[in-house]
Amino acid sequence: DQKKSLGGKTVLITAGPTYEAIDPVRFIGNHSSGKMGFSLAEEAAKRGAKVILISGPSSLKPKHENINLHRITSAKEMLDKVLEYYDTIDIGIASAAVADYAPKVVASEKIKKNEDTFTIELIKNPDILKTMGEKKAHQFLVGFALETQNEEKNAKGKLAKKNLDMIVLNSLRDEGAGFKNDTNKIKIFTKNEKIEFDLKSKENVAKDILDCIEAQYLK
Ligand code: C5P
Repeated sequence: DQKKSLGGKTVLITAGPTYEAIDPVRFIGNHSSGKMGFSLAEEAAKRGAKVILISGPSSLKPKHENINLHRITSAKEMLDKVLEYYDTIDIGIASAAVADYAPKVVASEKIKKNEDTFTIELIKNPDILKTMGEKKAHQFLVGFALETQNEEKNAKGKLAKKNLDMIVLNSLRDEGAGFKNDTNKIKIFTKNEKIEFDLKSKENVAKDILDCIEAQYLK
């Protein structure tokens, strides 16, 4: 018997990488697979939530009928889609690996290889989760932090700076953790708690994260 603990709730999840166009055929991106976000979407839907999944380019497909998938490409498009739904959601989980910078200008034609060196000027992308935090009313907000050093300090800093209720830390120092693997090893921080978990499949990590959200949000 599946528990319908999130029945009547709307959960928005960002997932995957973003691609920032350089010209009509090239982009700046990253290795995010979208697996963590898609696993969270399946688990939230199984628990009865209506899920709005906003994903960058990923080969994954949602299975559960309660998942409404919106595919976007760039950070700007992801922000616009998030803002379209933001007022209607109860819980927001930002698991996307958003590109930090995008080319300042996008060439309208394919760039030719003439010069020996080539420079692209980059401009900072909007911080989607920080924007959600600034607009927070009733929403419960969860972020991710993928760190390589000063992990706990950085994660707690982001919890405060982005006005979050919870942050999920994965360290690239832990084998099997991070955005390309099928497994993940996480620590969860709230304002006054720290919970450590073992290395698990992303499906089981999604269960742990949603158990934690329910313990905090539904209490
Ligand atoms: O600041 P940092 O990129 O490490 O924060 C990671 C968290 O913020 C993740 O939850 C990520 O999805 C979110 N984020 C975002 N928009 C950005 C950068 C990060 O939503 N431009």
